[in-house]
Amino acid sequence: MTQQRHTGGDVRLTGVSKTYGSFTAVQPLDLTVPEGSFFALLGASGCGKTTTLRMIAGLEEATTGTIHLGDKDITGLPPHRRPVNTVFQSYALFPHLDIAENIAFGLRRRGIRSVKKQVDAMLDLVELGDLARRRPHQLSGGQQQRVAVARALINHPRVLLLDEPLGALDLKLRRQMQLELKRIQTEVGITFVHVTHDQEEAMTMADTVAVMNGGRVEQLGAPADLYENPRTTFVANFLGTSNLIEGDVLAAAGVDVVVSAGGGELTLPRARCPDSTTSGGRILLGIRPEKIALTPAADAHAIAAGRNRVTGRVVDSSFIGVCTQYVVESPAGAALQVYEQNVERRTGLVPGAEVVLHWNPDHAFGLDADQDIAAGVKSMEDAA
Ligand SMILES: Nc1ncnc2c1ncn2[C@@H]1O[C@H](COP(=O)(O)OP(=O)(O)O)[C@@H](O)[C@H]1O
Ligand SMILES: [Mg+2]
Repeated sequence: MTQQRHTGGDVRLTGVSKTYGSFTAVQPLDLTVPEGSFFALLGASGCGKTTTLRMIAGLEEATTGTIHLGDKDITGLPPHRRPVNTVFQSYALFPHLDIAENIAFGLRRRGIRSVKKQVDAMLDLVELGDLARRRPHQLSGGQQQRVAVARALINHPRVLLLDEPLGALDLKLRRQMQLELKRIQTEVGITFVHVTHDQEEAMTMADTVAVMNGGRVEQLGAPADLYENPRTTFVANFLGTSNLIEGDVLAAAGVDVVVSAGGGELTLPRARCPDSTTSGGRILLGIRPEKIALTPAADAHAIAAGRNRVTGRVVDSSFIGVCTQYVVESPAGAALQVYEQNVERRTGLVPGAEVVLHWNPDHAFGLDADQDIAAGVKSMEDAA
């Protein structure tokens, strides 16, 4: 962020929950969204993202808790009295008004007559100046999306809420719009709270990501921190892909933890293991697919000393352009994932090939084994 950080405009949720009858959609939630940040609420469908956003907007009443904007308690305010605007997935543009008038709507409703200067500035911001006189149906999905953003920003909200705003766009356009929205946010400097089920989208755009699961925030942090240091199996599996290897702690003296897994010994940094795991017993050792290297078993002697090793057999390989994704069956895991960057094309690692997987011990993280190892593994339903 290049903008100066003022803390006076943070969005602060304290003990905010939402129940529908006996069903709790959002568990009591404490959350601070720093002023001027691009904040993402990330989670699978049904985890309570929209409900949380609607409570901030005032479109849904919180069952418990308070919502502050800076020092001001806005919990009881109706939506139109909150300095907050929402961009919905459906855009909800007015079909009979042209683009300029769609954008001007908020000003007109407040009785402001001379809107041209502000509308032009907004058209410039979203780079739609040439299309001001078109109707919404004459625009592409991405252009309509930008109109929806301009129409919200013209009201100068302190906070812009975006609920899966790119969900209706195809993948390439979505990537483009992610960069576009980020540029706009940097330019206007106001707080964006963005809801998405797409982990790549959240990581691309947000300064801070809150990963939600079952009505709770499981972990919150900068994208790289969450990715490198997940604290739960859900976060490890939902944010990218993790290999989680079950093992027994043999020793935790000094800076390393030594784990017995799959008939061998693996080590990982003690600093990357929760305290609950270092006193012995079960542990999950996590290692990301791109941190693992593959060597044909016949060349195993060439692997540098000090690396963790697991032997296995390739069961599947998919060439996807930037990398090749391998699935390896091993005593440490039935389907370990390895991503190898496509620098030199390799031809030998076909299904059936005997291999050694190896990695720098510092790249592994530990997780409490007392969790569902498959939590957050993307199902077809989540991907929809
Ligand atoms: N008006 C409502 N009445 C009853 N249940 C609701 C209502 N709105 C949402 N829910 C439920 O609350 C949960 C969270 O919904 P939502 O916040 O929309 O999830 P998300 O946006 O993360 O997909 C879901 O199980 C949903 O079915
Ligand atoms: Mg939703």
